Amino acid sequence: MTPPLTSLVNERLLAGRTAFVTGGGSGVNLAIATAFATLGADVSICGRSEERLLGAAAGLRELGARVVTSVADVRDRAAVQAAFDRTADELAPCDIVVCGAAGNFLAPAESLSSNGFRAVVDIDLLGSFHAAHAAFEQLRQTRGSLLFVSGGQSLMPFELQAHVGAAKAGVDSLMRSLALEWGRHGIRVNSIVPGPVAGTEGMARLADHTGEDLWNDMVPLGRFATAEEIAQLAVVLVSPLASYVSGAQVVVDGGMALTGTGR
Ligand code: HXC
Repeated sequence: MTPPLTSLVNERLLAGRTAFVTGGGSGVNLAIATAFATLGADVSICGRSEERLLGAAAGLRELGARVVTSVADVRDRAAVQAAFDRTADELAPCDIVVCGAAGNFLAPAESLSSNGFRAVVDIDLLGSFHAAHAAFEQLRQTRGSLLFVSGGQSLMPFELQAHVGAAKAGVDSLMRSLALEWGRHGIRVNSIVPGPVAGTEGMARLADHTGEDLWNDMVPLGRFATAEEIAQLAVVLVSPLASYVSGAQVVVDGGMALTGTGR
């Protein structure tokens, strides 16, 4: 039975939920964690920098969330599992998992080293698999929701981003495979595909290279997103508002994918 809409759309939309966000110490992932906490969820964040995690956790606690932080590199499967185990012990088994941790740098394809290509694929794609794989038992138990953070590079080539495009396209493919296989366990699996987001480390590097005007021109809405606008979509997709949405790659790019290539 579908709950009445008015009982869903309220300021406690995510009350009682436990969300795990990889890379949740900064950028879009922190905005997502913050949106979840604002709507009543408890939040577990992991990342490589303890300093960033502690700063982020303080802000999340101010919103009333119970918070767990774990220093873990998503390339390390055992460390990711330990972070999920701690979350279940200290909060509850997760019913929202966001695979957001990503690495990025600009490089022409011909000068990318094998190690540089691998570093980004290992963080973005293998790291997303690690988090999803480590989360499976908890998500099965809670019939939870899994969300991947992809990127516009998955849909169209961006100059100097061959490694990121390959990794993000892999993330979207993984999303579809898991949606297919895990639907029978009641687990919904989706991805969001952000375009340019103001104030993020990755976008600052791209805009430094090309100039910000080029990006604004490519976006039909004529501006960058805020991280909060990306987080709004994440909220909808993990919430009961999207209870029949699974296997969806949802683009949140102001229309940029309509305009060609990211050069
Ligand atoms: C060429 C580079 C390079 C660069 C690193 N490498 N930076 N090659 N140009 N600018 C190569 C190195 O030479 C090395 O290869 C290999 O990559 C591994 O580098 P390490 O520094 O040892 O790896 P690591 O410390 O694990 O760092 C991971 C990283 C790094 C991804 C390479 O950039 C990083 O940690 N970034 C911080 C996280 C981040 O970028 N966040 C922003 C994500 S935002 P060799 O052959 O020398 O051994 C995002 C959205 C973008 O992704 C949206 C845009 C629209």
